Amino acid sequence: MHLPLASLALLAIPLTAALCLRVPHTLPIPPIPELNEIKRSFKDARIVPDVIDEFDPSAQVFLEWELDMAVTPGKSVNKSDSASTPILTASNLPFGHRGPYLILTVDPDAPSHSDPKNSPFRHFLQTDLWLRGELSDELPYAWKLENESTPLSEWYPPAPPPGSGPHRYVTLLYAQPDDLDLTFVDWDDRKRFNVKRFAERTGLNEPLAGLWFYVEVEDNDGESLVPADPQLQLVLDGT
Ligand SMILES: *[C@@H]1O[C@H](CO)[C@@H](O)[C@H](O)[C@H]1NC(C)=O
Ligand SMILES: *[C@@H]1O[C@H](CO)[C@@H](O)[C@H](O)[C@H]1NC(C)=O
Repeated sequence: MHLPLASLALLAIPLTAALCLRVPHTLPIPPIPELNEIKRSFKDARIVPDVIDEFDPSAQVFLEWELDMAVTPGKSVNKSDSASTPILTASNLPFGHRGPYLILTVDPDAPSHSDPKNSPFRHFLQTDLWLRGELSDELPYAWKLENESTPLSEWYPPAPPPGSGPHRYVTLLYAQPDDLDLTFVDWDDRKRFNVKRFAERTGLNEPLAGLWFYVEVEDNDGESLVPADPQLQLVLDGT
């Protein structure tokens, strides 16, 4: 077999280009979180049962902002870093099922963990997400989920009231049913968005994947105005 040198060079170009174009990381790439760790962290942080009753993930979902950072479960995130719509990526989704998927994000601590009267507050709801075979820029094991429609609830940047303690932001990924009917949702009102009832009413079944992070904004004295929840604080300090 005789391959001219030029064609070998051509073969090499896409690989080299792909390697060079990768966004350089200043932080180490976090290892892919294990499913049983994610499941446990949802229980430890009491997202089960505050947001959903059961959680048995079979895949991983990630939120990525273009700042050399991807969110993994239980991470502390700066308010300013989470201000824009994140890039959505996932690993281990059912083989051959490219979409559509639905993602939502809620805050069960609005306006605070000890006074959750507006909870869960809906921060994001995006339908019609598809895997198109494009790798994440940040995580070598995740694939981009691309939206084919505009979000029904656009990303509402986390903005905990100063001194209201840590707020959990919970993202859940579902397989989107073909006959999804969302006409009953009041899109103008983001408060008290009951995820359990929403999933029941829309026939979403259980989430395939989930992720949570927390944001805390201190008041001017660097103090929390609400009593700390010792059990939650322990989880947050440990992650
Ligand atoms: C969050 O912001 C503070 C102050 O702007 C900065 O010192 C800190 O490194 C930031 N943390 C992260 C995780 O980016
Ligand atoms: C995808 O979502 C973004 C906002 O998150 C929106 O600007 C864009 O138009 C959407 N894409 C499509 C094809 O609707």
